[in-house]
Amino acid sequence: MYKYDAIDRQLINERVEQFRDQVSRWQAGELADDEFRPLRLQNGLYIQRHAPMFRIAVPYGMLNSAQLRRMAHVARKYDRGYGHFTTRHNLQLNWPKIEDVPDILAELAEVEMHAIQTSGNCLRNITTDQFAGVAADEIIDTRPLAEILRQWTTFHPEFAFLPRKFKIAISGTEQDRAVTWFHDIGLHLKVVDGQVGFTVIVGGGLGRTPIRGEVVRDFLPWQDILTYCEAILRVYNRAGRRDNAYKARIKILVQALGVEAFAKLVEEEWAHGKGGPATITQSEYDRIAAHFTAPAYESPGDTVLPEEKAFRRWVDRCRQPHKVAGYTAVTLSLKAHGVAPGDITSDQMEVVADLADQYSFGELRISHEQNIILADVKQADLYAVWQIAKENGLATPNIGLLTSMICCPGGDFCDLANAKSIPIATAIQARFDNLDYLFDIGEIDLNISGCMNACGHHHVGHIGVLGVDKNNDEFYQVTLGGRQGYQARLGKVIGPSFAANEMPDVVEKIISVYLEQRSDEERFLDTFDRIGIDPFKNRVYEGRAHGKAKAADKETA
Ligand code: HEM
Ligand code: SF4
Repeated sequence: MYKYDAIDRQLINERVEQFRDQVSRWQAGELADDEFRPLRLQNGLYIQRHAPMFRIAVPYGMLNSAQLRRMAHVARKYDRGYGHFTTRHNLQLNWPKIEDVPDILAELAEVEMHAIQTSGNCLRNITTDQFAGVAADEIIDTRPLAEILRQWTTFHPEFAFLPRKFKIAISGTEQDRAVTWFHDIGLHLKVVDGQVGFTVIVGGGLGRTPIRGEVVRDFLPWQDILTYCEAILRVYNRAGRRDNAYKARIKILVQALGVEAFAKLVEEEWAHGKGGPATITQSEYDRIAAHFTAPAYESPGDTVLPEEKAFRRWVDRCRQPHKVAGYTAVTLSLKAHGVAPGDITSDQMEVVADLADQYSFGELRISHEQNIILADVKQADLYAVWQIAKENGLATPNIGLLTSMICCPGGDFCDLANAKSIPIATAIQARFDNLDYLFDIGEIDLNISGCMNACGHHHVGHIGVLGVDKNNDEFYQVTLGGRQGYQARLGKVIGPSFAANEMPDVVEKIISVYLEQRSDEERFLDTFDRIGIDPFKNRVYEGRAHGKAKAADKETA
């Protein structure tokens, strides 16, 4: 994986000292809260419900065992011994003290980690496929380009104060595991006449106004991604709204202008930068790509896996096809029943780091589904990995199943929440705790957000749950049929919202319609696409008075 050079190291160390000085000037009253705010935000520091919330970047989701051990140490020493993996390749700590953050940053910098631009109105952490470099279906390994994008976006002087946050995702497979349709810029691989490039998608996003992005350029050669993104960002920086935070994202600008007019402005701007110094040369690509060479794979040959039922279940759900014969990528579930989705304790982080050292060349990945991945495990080692993972609560065999939910921290931690989301996840997990039943139900993405900001990706869940506020009470709106991947689509609101204690029943009713109506091999989504939303609606609202549509339900319709 990428190793810092002297420039990276200097940048990061200087940044730690700069922030240390900013914190002490703020403590001394020399910086007002308003002045300090953008400075702390650009270093990943929010002020939240109970304490500051601190967000650490895991660029394009890749880290090594030493980095994970350091995160474990930081969470133990400065926080409450656990962290929360988010949907954007970040780890959040919920309880640090502001005055400790410079020390935390200094400890992170020693292992080449930081929190730069993990919040604030700037270019955020670059995200990609968690299986980049190892997936059997991959056409190109996106990690070198993601690293080039990381370097280009870090401290980009022109884009430090954008109208609003800005997120770029890059995908190198046909299928797309990076949610490219729902980013400010999505780069989705396209090969034309043997030339590698990207379809450029712009103006997607979830949040208050969920919009599937639009194609702004059908094919862009890979060498041009920086100059072209620069042109998009210039147009946005110039024309994006700054008068209203809710209308400031690029998606609003693209919608207001129409994608053709927007594309025209981008092309005009690009005419100035195209072919300029930010064009990626083959030698620069090769220099960065040299950091991502394949580890020393052996030729393990075929392995006969033990028959043990529990082990087989785990293998079925948690193993991902690998491009090298005899190897596999293993997803360690952070969705054990009764645990907040995405949470991981310091002890577990250390176990995972040891697993990576022993069985996966010391490297790890974080998925936007809030799980952690050992990308290079020999099939022959699966049983040993499973046993250790199981002993440590990391082998719930539920990847892709109903209980492997995406869930934001919601009202338990987040100041912006309309409703709690973790207890809803826990209640649904408790209701569906029978593994045979879960396996029978099959693939379902259930995504939960505590408010319309959509941090839990509820719009793209097959079943989406959104916390809404009604007269200061917590209610939940349900969407169906959303999906990620290259066929990504927003879910449809099913109708009036539900009280918290109704939610396990509601989900159960939705599932029961599917189980009754499915034909042989149909997944939940296939059945939904075939029969539409009405049968689900009818079952869920059976016996309830219709028509009491609630004001808050309009938000994401
Ligand atoms: C507790 C601290 C958090 C705060 C204050 C916060 C705040 C926000 C806000 C205000 C938005 C809406 C942005 C907009 O539309 O302009 C948003 C979007 C988002 N956040 Fe969070 N968030 C927090 C935690 C998280 C967590 C824990 C996750 C992942 C589980 C996350 C991932 C995202 C994602 C994926 C979006 C999607 C919307 C988009 O940009 O299209 N955030 N967040
Ligand atoms: S969706 Fe809302 S409640 Fe959940 S983390 Fe985001 S801002 Fe907070």
